[in-house]
Amino acid sequence: VKGWKQVRRLFPALENYTYLNAASGSPLSKRAARGAKRYYDEMLQHGDVPWDKWLERKEKIRDTLADFIGAIPAEVAFTLNTSHGMNLIAEMLKGKGEVLTMKDEFPSSTLPWIHRGFKLRFIRPARGVYTLQRIEEQISPHTKILLTSHVQYRTGFRQDLEAVGNLCRRKNLIFVVNATQSLGAFPVDVKRDNIDFLAFLGLKWPVAGYGIGGLYIGEKWLRSIRFPMVGWKSMKDPESMDNRKIHLRREASALEMGCPHFPGIFALGQSLELFQSIGKKRIRKRILDLGKYLAGKLEKMGLEILSPLEPGCRSGITIVKVDNPEDVRERLKRKNIIVSARGGGLRISTHFYNNRTDIDTLIKGLKEIT
Ligand SMILES: Cc1ncc(COP(=O)(O)O)c(C=O)c1O
Repeated sequence: VKGWKQVRRLFPALENYTYLNAASGSPLSKRAARGAKRYYDEMLQHGDVPWDKWLERKEKIRDTLADFIGAIPAEVAFTLNTSHGMNLIAEMLKGKGEVLTMKDEFPSSTLPWIHRGFKLRFIRPARGVYTLQRIEEQISPHTKILLTSHVQYRTGFRQDLEAVGNLCRRKNLIFVVNATQSLGAFPVDVKRDNIDFLAFLGLKWPVAGYGIGGLYIGEKWLRSIRFPMVGWKSMKDPESMDNRKIHLRREASALEMGCPHFPGIFALGQSLELFQSIGKKRIRKRILDLGKYLAGKLEKMGLEILSPLEPGCRSGITIVKVDNPEDVRERLKRKNIIVSARGGGLRISTHFYNNRTDIDTLIKGLKEIT
């Protein structure tokens, strides 16, 4: 893929809608759909005969995903969604101590810990921003785990993971990240950022559809943690069919336990290849440029932007204050303009498949309504 026009052509839904809703769910790309469909076609024609081939394909995608976030393949597992990953993380860290987290977190970040009796303390932001200083002030001798989203779903605030990762290193905290609102849009480097555990969903910024998520577990943890769940595919030699003894493979993939959900994994694989062919930095710049264009237009209309606008905090999410957000969202939808109502306003997402015309169409629609 060379230009953005070509990228857009990969998303047929963009012909039907002005689609500014990646933060809820992105449309699928033809490539991701083809990745999944290829598996269905192969199974239609060949039944389970290509099993070994599919396993091989899956492991290649694991390599790609690991590379994409700066991990090694043994540290990466395929999951179904963020909740799936976060429950596994919370289970592995049971008994480790208090969790310090952010007031704006999506429930999938926090509920798995609350469910297990962890004590959680919530940091309040200042106009949506969680500064390093604010976080540091809230660390107590009881704090053992720092849990944050890379990008907050209800404000669009983007955290500086490298800075927070360094803080965690200094304070000897376990660093857990929900990357669902960033992965595919903003680069993550788990080693540079000192991340211990990370979970994400494939539906939003990774444009891979439903049924796929990912989990990262730092290598040092793989050696020491108790694996909360196992199955035949968790063993060093699954084909041994030993049903009495556990010979655990100390890799994140052991948590996949049994037969894989191939279609979702193959869709994600195609998305990652697309991202790599375009380049992470170009995607990030595209998203920020579109966000800036959008913010300018909204401000010109006299609307208040609720998302933090400091350049370092910007993401693909812009929240704008409107009266009756749910009603405005519904009326925009009737014009085939897709956004969501979140964070006390309209949540408008700009992804790499969007363009300025999408934003102009939205602004025109908003003017007609308000
Ligand atoms: C930050 C964040 N995490 C997670 C999710 C979704 O959770 P799950 O993947 O468990 O369905 C969302 C969806 O809106 C989100 O914004």
